Amino acid sequence: MLKTVFLALVPFLVFAEQTLSIIKPDAVRENHVGAIIDRFEKNGLRIAAIKKVQLSKEKAGDFYAVHKGRPFYEDLTKFMSSGPVVVMVLDGPDAIQKNRKIMGATNFEKAEPGTIRKDFAKSMTENAVHGSDSPESAAQEITFFFEPNQIF
Ligand code: CMP
Repeated sequence: MLKTVFLALVPFLVFAEQTLSIIKPDAVRENHVGAIIDRFEKNGLRIAAIKKVQLSKEKAGDFYAVHKGRPFYEDLTKFMSSGPVVVMVLDGPDAIQKNRKIMGATNFEKAEPGTIRKDFAKSMTENAVHGSDSPESAAQEITFFFEPNQIF
């Protein structure tokens, strides 16, 4: 019995990870928050932390500092500060890659059918969601928005 319980827990113990997800201003404005969260939960990701915030242009610039100097940086920071966003920590086995699969490609025209970006994005910039792309960026991005005692 104990062995069965242990074996059932192994995937979670070994692969459980956390990632940062942002529902961007376009999707918040268009009332897609519930539909997007539903996709995460239906695919086995748990909401470990959640809040709605409005980023200043400066804070959006800090968050996307890695893209500073790229041609889309100005439009991206302007857009990300154009209205409230919903920021979440998603938790589950292989959460980083799973979230990226559920989101779909950055360019919504190339995203797989049934992904969030295929269904809700309108352009490369207004692409409904952001998700961390590696364990390093997940750790940094989670710390950017949440204190440890806000994550459950
Ligand atoms: P996101 O996953 O939030 O990470 C960086 C964002 O920059 C990306 O989604 C897009 O919204 C935006 N972006 C705009 N143009 C480009 C581009 N040419 N390449 C990558 N990201 C872009």
